[in-house]
Amino acid sequence: MIGKKKKLGQFFTNKQIAKFMCECIISKNTKTLLDPAAGDGVFLKSALSLNNNLKCDAFELDNNFAQKLKSKNFSNTEIFQQDYLMSKTNILYDAIICNPPYNKFQKIENRKILQKNFKEKYNIEISGYSNIYIYFLIKSINELNKNGKCCYIIPYEFLNAGYGEIIKKYLLESGLLSTIIKFDNNIELFDDAITTSCIVILQKNTCNKVKFINIKNLKDFNIDLLYTSANCNTYQNKDLNPKDKWLNLFEIRNNAINYKNLVPFIKYAQIKRGIATGNNKYFSLSNSKIKKLGISRSACIPCITKSSDIKKFILDDIEFTNLENLDKNVYIFDGTKAKIKNDFLYIEYGEKLGVNKTYLTSHRNPWFAIEQKDTAPILISVFNRDKIKFIRNKCNVKTLTTFHNLFFKQKNITEEEINIFFSYLLTPIAQEILYLNKREYGNGLNKFEPNDLNNAMVINIDKIEIKDRNEILKLYNQLKLEENEIFIKELNSIFLKYCCTNI
Ligand SMILES: C[S@@+](CC[C@H](N)C(=O)[O-])C[C@H]1O[C@@H](n2cnc3c(N)ncnc32)[C@H](O)[C@@H]1O
Repeated sequence: MIGKKKKLGQFFTNKQIAKFMCECIISKNTKTLLDPAAGDGVFLKSALSLNNNLKCDAFELDNNFAQKLKSKNFSNTEIFQQDYLMSKTNILYDAIICNPPYNKFQKIENRKILQKNFKEKYNIEISGYSNIYIYFLIKSINELNKNGKCCYIIPYEFLNAGYGEIIKKYLLESGLLSTIIKFDNNIELFDDAITTSCIVILQKNTCNKVKFINIKNLKDFNIDLLYTSANCNTYQNKDLNPKDKWLNLFEIRNNAINYKNLVPFIKYAQIKRGIATGNNKYFSLSNSKIKKLGISRSACIPCITKSSDIKKFILDDIEFTNLENLDKNVYIFDGTKAKIKNDFLYIEYGEKLGVNKTYLTSHRNPWFAIEQKDTAPILISVFNRDKIKFIRNKCNVKTLTTFHNLFFKQKNITEEEINIFFSYLLTPIAQEILYLNKREYGNGLNKFEPNDLNNAMVINIDKIEIKDRNEILKLYNQLKLEENEIFIKELNSIFLKYCCTNI
């Protein structure tokens, strides 16, 4: 069961941020203010202290919060205990300020109605992969006065995610986008919410320029930021492309953009996600668990279930046996291969636990069938801290969604060609270029969705000369024997030569 706090996205803005956001959009001339997701009223308090003549409207879905807000008796303020997204007022505001809930749109109960309403009313079709905060933002843009100002604090995932393209387009076409302030992912603005944050400021953009400001330290965070050019890049509205990954625009200087001889990743390979079980705890099995339950071996598929289990670049039969001996969960149960009594008892046990009732299992027939996926020659960890983990899968194991799977497009690709491509992926230069497409999760955690990698750039392997290919393969073989950083450095210098000169 998803708790109310999570369901309603109840994470609260600290006073320093709230004050900054109010200062961005409220002056002595501002007459009306809307807060669409008021929570405990941190924005109302700060806004009224800047201008006590403001007339404020505030929405709050949670009855407890709405009652508490009412009891605070903010002056000139009307509290609506309602779903903001379904509210139908025709009022336009001078200022709108918001820290909306952040929830995946797929989890929202009335998502179909919302999608339809937004299409009809605002002529925007938002992807089902998007997030509820996008809906708040679009509605607010349409509730602003001609000279109104709006300030939202939201996750910055949309700047790089596929679903963000339509939003970025909408923001650019509105002519209102003026500033985006991104907080470095080591700055934790919200307790226990692992997410990244940015502040989006919208106002009539008279100079047609958009500022991208990067905050590395909260010490530097004050209203002067908006008026200086420190830590900031400015772009002409017309030069911004919604199809681009906008996180790059905050980087003050980025060499990777200037590298040569790069081609799209998808030229060579396609990335697909691993197996989603619907209940990893039930489906994942270790050697000792298989023995204890007396399940038949033929109903167990070799599968990596946890990224942290894999410590080496090369996953071969010896390494797999090591993992088995360490009693790691390196198998998954496939009920369709059940043949002995104990296999069927384990299926019954799953039903007793309710494993058959999760979203994924209840949409599978039978619920205990495992997704059919090929084994991939290279595995890629989905979450990373400072580098992406690439694993050469030499023992044909499958993986759960903790790893993405890389499949080469060329059908008859040789082992040597795979090893050259793999060697490239291990190098710092490859990582630097791929990192341009990362999504940040806060706390230093980065994530790559399959399409982030499919859309990334890699070196044009076809350009590599024979003598360098031989050298790369020699280094790869040394690396197999000893995972020494020296070999990676040598590999890097070979590939770097191609990335830095026109060949
Ligand atoms: C991220 S919190 C922000 C609260 C407060 N404005 C702040 O910044 O500290 C979002 C708030 O929106 C409320 N909420 C969630 N969905 C809502 C909806 N559809 N309409 C109005 N309020 C909603 C939640 O109960 C929560 O209090």
